Amino acid sequence: MSNRIRYGIIGAGGCGRGKHLTSYSQMPEVDIIAVCDIIPERAEAAADQFDAEESYTDYVEMLHEEDLDLVSVATPNHVHAPATVAALDAGCHVHCEKPASLTPGLVQSMVDAKERAGKHLMIGLNNRFTPWAQFARTYVDAGHLGDIYHAKCGWKRRRGIPGKGGWFTTKAQSGGGPLIDLGVHFIDVCNYIMGFPTPTSASGQTYSKFADHRGPSAASSKKSPDPATGFTYDVEDLAVGFVRYENGCTLELEFSWASNIAHEVNFVELYGTRGGLEYRHGELTLYGEFEGTSLDTSPKIKGGGAWGLAETKHYVDVIQNGGTVMSPPEEAVLIMKIIEGIYASAEQDAEVRLTQS
Ligand SMILES: NC(=O)c1ccc[n+]([C@@H]2O[C@H](COP(=O)([O-])OP(=O)(O)OC[C@H]3O[C@@H](n4cnc5c(N)ncnc54)[C@H](O)[C@@H]3O)[C@@H](O)[C@H]2O)c1
Repeated sequence: MSNRIRYGIIGAGGCGRGKHLTSYSQMPEVDIIAVCDIIPERAEAAADQFDAEESYTDYVEMLHEEDLDLVSVATPNHVHAPATVAALDAGCHVHCEKPASLTPGLVQSMVDAKERAGKHLMIGLNNRFTPWAQFARTYVDAGHLGDIYHAKCGWKRRRGIPGKGGWFTTKAQSGGGPLIDLGVHFIDVCNYIMGFPTPTSASGQTYSKFADHRGPSAASSKKSPDPATGFTYDVEDLAVGFVRYENGCTLELEFSWASNIAHEVNFVELYGTRGGLEYRHGELTLYGEFEGTSLDTSPKIKGGGAWGLAETKHYVDVIQNGGTVMSPPEEAVLIMKIIEGIYASAEQDAEVRLTQS
């Protein structure tokens, strides 16, 4: 490979354009070669906007015709695994959106394809790349919290169902509701900060109460149901769960697209023997003691930057200079085991053991 990176993308919707094309187009080493979307006007419009040479409606054709080094996958979730495996088999590095896929088995097939191809695969878990999560991980690694024995995380919206009736609310295409859509971000960030302890069991419940809600802002986005497939809403709009880890730590979680609560919130809380950590409303607070007095610290963490830019810069650096991918698919297998376990527990009305193989 020359020093330049020949780039293509599969899926030119909100995330494909707003995160991937926008951030890769700012990388001086990257040439945007091709855009693929099953909606031809969308592929052409994105190709025009980002000066790509070609547009396609079939990713198999794009991978066959173009000599690409790097491909983003930003399609509905059920396309992630087949598109990623096809791109890896075509000899490309891949940057695939979250959730990596629908099940741990499918994510493992992506890991296997990466091994087979000898290429990199990064999952777009952008919350890990935020300055607060980086700070928290370093702070925890330095031992300031002591042993972490409990954690909580959540992301709850008052109203914010993405593309109600479309692929997000169609389980066969999305894999589920807010647990897989939002939960994947914050379960990941908890696991990441805690150093990825092994989850051993999960229990939980899911609720679907807003399918028929006709309030003014029940849905958050402009995406409309696909006229070909009609309106489907067979996922949860609230999920709660409880996870046990091999090291004795536990995690409580709560994710919703719509709930009758005061306002949207996302949060992480870590309970340690020496200190605590809370992320809420974009602010990080550290709880400790000094000479017998409780001491709260609010680190002034700088930066943040545009959506996806830190992740994209990191990936370009790994591809060009080597190193370890910061958001590898092997860790996404663990997150998917937790998510699958909570869905299974809700169905079976029982705690579910998580297999470790
Ligand atoms: N990391 C984040 O913060 C973040 C934010 C939003 C979305 N996402 C993820 O990005 C992915 C896309 O979400 P979105 O909001 O952009 O959805 P979207 O519906 O806006 O875009 C998906 C696009 O993929 C296209 N598509 C569908 N099947 C295809 C195929 N076989 N080949 C090529 N194109 C195909 C659709 O036509 C559409 O344009 C999802 O996995 C979602 O979870 C991540």
